[in-house]
Amino acid sequence: MSLGASWNDGVLETERLLWRPPVEADRAAFVALFLDPEFTVYANPEDTSSADERFDRMLEFAAAVPFAKGPIIERSSGAIVGYTGVWREELFGVDRLEWGWRLTPSARGRGYATEAGLALLAEADRQVDGEMVCIIDHTNVASRRVAVKLGFEHWCDHRWDGDPNVYELLTRPIGRGGAPLLNPLPSHRIG
Ligand SMILES: CC(C)(COP(=O)(O)OP(=O)(O)OC[C@H]1O[C@@H](n2cnc3c(N)ncnc32)[C@H](O)[C@@H]1OP(=O)(O)O)[C@@H](O)C(=O)NCCC(=O)NCCS
Repeated sequence: MSLGASWNDGVLETERLLWRPPVEADRAAFVALFLDPEFTVYANPEDTSSADERFDRMLEFAAAVPFAKGPIIERSSGAIVGYTGVWREELFGVDRLEWGWRLTPSARGRGYATEAGLALLAEADRQVDGEMVCIIDHTNVASRRVAVKLGFEHWCDHRWDGDPNVYELLTRPIGRGGAPLLNPLPSHRIG
């Protein structure tokens, strides 16, 4: 896929998509998505209050971390069709930056997660050196395909206490690679 991505006034543009950091005006759209069990498949479901708090954390994280999760917008419709970017996760005692992606059901199957992810990771490659991780449920075949297309490679399998699912951890060097990229915020504030 040709990247052909460019920045325009802080908005990353690809052939079919826009990506930018989240803003307060996105709250209603994201709360609605977080309350949709089809959108949150493979993740914890939210209620009205936790969905609102989750968006607060998204804004807080984006203010502190470059490439934090932000909306993917379909250029043809202007609609928010998902998000991609960085979140955080503690793995083996290390509070790491973790790359993620999630699309609305109607936007799946068109390569959008790969298109947005490749463009944003290319920008991360220009700005940061270190190692990024991503976490994928073993049964999530489509997401693993996206991870591989974004350049992530198998690291290990992992199981969290109290969760019967097995997850694959994959890593990708960012820029010249190096040590794990770390969450700069107190983890209890982000969740
Ligand atoms: C995972 C997700 C982001 C994939 O994004 P997408 O833009 O729809 O992905 P693509 O269209 O590029 O499809 C990825 C690949 O998976 C394949 N695929 C799609 N659905 C599949 C399925 N149900 N079973 C097996 N393969 C599937 C596609 O054929 C494609 O294969 P290819 O790489 O050989 O072309 C999207 O499906 C999604 O949001 N799912 C729910 C949330 C989620 O799982 N998020 C990730 C958590 S780690």
